[in-house]
Amino acid sequence: MARQRYSIVKHDIYDLEGSLIARAGDVLTPKFMKAICNKGKHKDRDLKPIFRHRGIRDDVMAFLKGGPYDIIFDSPKVIDQTLKWMGEIVFPPPIFEALDFFKKNDPYTYRHILRVSVLTVRMASGLIRSPSKLVREVSVAPMHDFGKITVPMEILRKVSYLTRNEREILKDHAVAGFVLLSYYLGGEDRLSPKVAHEHHERRDGSGYPRGIKLADRMVELVAVCDVFDALISPRPYRDVPYDTRSALELIYEDASLGKLSRSMVKLLVSYNRTDKTFYRNLVISKEKRGAPPKGSRYGVVVDDPD
Ligand SMILES: [Fe+2]
Ligand SMILES: [Fe+2]
Repeated sequence: MARQRYSIVKHDIYDLEGSLIARAGDVLTPKFMKAICNKGKHKDRDLKPIFRHRGIRDDVMAFLKGGPYDIIFDSPKVIDQTLKWMGEIVFPPPIFEALDFFKKNDPYTYRHILRVSVLTVRMASGLIRSPSKLVREVSVAPMHDFGKITVPMEILRKVSYLTRNEREILKDHAVAGFVLLSYYLGGEDRLSPKVAHEHHERRDGSGYPRGIKLADRMVELVAVCDVFDALISPRPYRDVPYDTRSALELIYEDASLGKLSRSMVKLLVSYNRTDKTFYRNLVISKEKRGAPPKGSRYGVVVDDPD
């Protein structure tokens, strides 16, 4: 795929109140994005800590204690510390509106967002020493899939293979997230729209939407957490999720192919080991012992019916 300098909007993008903010065909140049930031609704934003919103803390706790995340969050101390940092993340109302929407209409996406968030916090704690910097940087994670609010429910919840056309519509969530978060967060927070825009890009330029080379630490971290959770979680389109070993083997293969950051993947593997070996000293065997679940439809698309 040829590298694209700027993303192009493929379908009209509306804000949460239904006002049109970008049209199909718009090219997201810096000038265009500045105009989106300027007309955004962020000026009177009323920030609230994530766990003050109903149910979020309990929903996070519910999956931390069970498999397959219990090995990563393997002691009350680790859980408490991770939740303390996560609890310091603050958001304006539209982010909570989107989370409520997903919780009600698409629980898979809701749980995925929370799992990717808490995993990002845990992983980032192995990389960033300063707690304030850590909280600031990890606050991008709960917003990475914000753009899915624009994807039709029948595609998000589809239980069979996606067609090529549906897959393209799903992929548009990266561009929609970039536009909507720039609109709602304004120019102050540039990292969250960037993560929404680039979390499906890859180091070798094989990702989407632009085919650029992934090179930002937080984007790479969210990208690794995103793929891991997508593999090990129940999804509407498959009966059985990947076991942790098969998921890590697949992700490590992507790192070996130069698609994902090798050090981020090593960090993920180290947190999935009981001895928690320091990730830089970790030796990963190339031997494959896991087996992807039978009939997995992960990443598979079919032709559109004529
Ligand atoms: Fe995504
Ligand atoms: Fe995601």
